[in-house]
Formats: sequence, C-alpha cells, structure tokens
Amino acid sequence: MKIDLHTKNILVTGASRGIGAAISKELGKSGARIAIHYNNDKESAVTVMQNIGNKSKIFKADLEDPIECEMLFNSVLKEFGHIDVIVNNAGITISSPLNSENWVNEWDKTMSINLRAIGILCNLAIQHFKTRKCGRIINMASRSAFRGETAEFLAYAASKGGVVSLSKSIAKEFGKDGITCFVLAPGWVKTDMIQKTIEEHGEEYILKDMSFDRFTEPKDIAPIVTLLASGLADHATGTTIDINAASYLH
Ligand SMILES: NC(=O)c1ccc[n+]([C@@H]2O[C@H](COP(=O)([O-])OP(=O)(O)OC[C@H]3O[C@@H](n4cnc5c(N)ncnc54)[C@H](OP(=O)(O)O)[C@@H]3O)[C@@H](O)[C@H]2O)c1
Repeated sequence: MKIDLHTKNILVTGASRGIGAAISKELGKSGARIAIHYNNDKESAVTVMQNIGNKSKIFKADLEDPIECEMLFNSVLKEFGHIDVIVNNAGITISSPLNSENWVNEWDKTMSINLRAIGILCNLAIQHFKTRKCGRIINMASRSAFRGETAEFLAYAASKGGVVSLSKSIAKEFGKDGITCFVLAPGWVKTDMIQKTIEEHGEEYILKDMSFDRFTEPKDIAPIVTLLASGLADHATGTTIDINAASYLH
C-alpha cells in the first residue's frame, strides 16, 4: 500500500521529541507538510523540521494556556491556508502522591495540558473541518484510560479517559460533516517521559507488562498515524487503537 500525503497539511502537537517527533517524520515521508508544534525544546523542533522538509514549519505554544492553544491553531491556519489533520499528541505525566501538598495544582496542570488543550484544539478543528466538509482528528490517550494507573498518576489516567470519551463523542456527532476521530492507546513507550521510571524500577519492571522482549519505541506508533491520516481507515472512526504490545493480557 502506497500512501501519498503530498496535499495534506497536518498539525502535530508535542512534535519536538518522543512520539510526536516520530509521527511527524513518518507523515513527512509520505509527503505531508507538518506544523511541528513545540513548547520549550525549539532546537529539537528545528531538527525535526529539517529532517522532514516539505515546507514544514515550527510553531511554539504552551498548551497549559487556553489562549496559546487558540493562537497555535490560528497561526497554523494563517500560515498553511488550511489544515487537513490534527494529531493531538502533546502530554505530560506528573507523579503526585495523594498526600502531596501540590496535589490540586498538579491535577489541574495535567488536566489543562492532557485534556483541556485537546478539547480546545478539537473544537477549533471541528469548526474549520466543517467548512471543508472533511478533516481527521487523531488523539493520544494511553492504556491507562482503560486499565487505570498507580496511585501517583490518578490525574494522568483520568485525563486520558477524558480523551477517549471526547474522541468518541466527536466521531459520533460529526461524521456526517466529513469529520473522523481516532484514539491511540500506547502502553510504555521508550521516551523521555518514562526515563525516570526506568531509572527507579529498571527495564524488567516495564517489560513484564509486554509480550515482546523489547520496549515499544516511537517508531512503532508512527505508521498507524500515517494510515489514519490518509483516510484509508475512515470507517474505523471512534475506535481506539491499542499499541501496547498486548499489555492488557499480562
Ligand atoms: N511514553 C509513554 O510511555 C507513553 C505511553 C502512553 C501514552 N503516551 C502519550 O504520548 C504522548 C507523547 O508522549 P512522549 O512519551 O513522546 O512524551 P515526551 O517525550 O515527554 O514529549 C512530550 C511532548 O509534549 C510537549 N509538551 C509538554 N508539555 C507541554 C506544554 N505545556 N505545552 C505544549 N507542549 C508540551 C513537549 O514539548 P517541548 O519538549 O518542546 O517542551 C514534547 O514535545 C503524550 O500524550 C503521552 O501521554 C506516552
């Protein structure tokens, strides 16, 4: 199967590092023009842009701030003319024990970046896609939406559960407007996000949850996004794709 995305403008959030960078590069290989969103790591975002080519551009926004979410979408629209696909990938995880004095702040920060920002960007994308009668949304959740998390990561799991139900509602409501919405649910993926866990618990702790003897890497997530972005899987709208090495079965 050959996938040609030469006519597609795609916004990928959190594209400077980890899974978002791999998704952007893979989409770029099929010819897509990528709006590479970053927050702090401009240098890595520039490297991703140089790797992709295709007139891709970098865009900065702190997604904790609703106004910056809106500015991001509008800047990409202004620069690219239209958007075909949005990949809401950016996210954070904060270890927050129940007795942490910052528990409420950490809950709010997690919800702002992992869920509210996706809600805002989906809202804007839907309004734009409706005018074009076409558009695809790919939202990053996690297996923790389905199997829960450890006690320090209650907010993370709750935010990802919200992403799943938000995405299902979009798929249900806006299909007749030509809009599709998909969810990805990775398990452990070897990125900066899990580095501390690896250091604290060792690789064996993570591998025991997987069917393979190697970690899932960002490159294992990216090709499915290219397929979803292409439109070849539109009738799977509303679905969640588990990319977690059968970790529910362990
Ligand atoms: N790694 C895993 O095991 C795993 C498993 C399941 C789901 N996921 C999900 O996959 C997504 C990507 O994770 P990853 O492992 O690739 O993470 P990562 O390597 O830590 O990268 C996080 C990305 O999100 C961006 N970001 C963080 N805070 C932001 C903010 N306030 N505003 C805007 N952007 C912000 C970062 O931008 P800058 O670096 O430019 O600041 C970076 O590009 C997340 O939604 C995560 O929850 C990851």
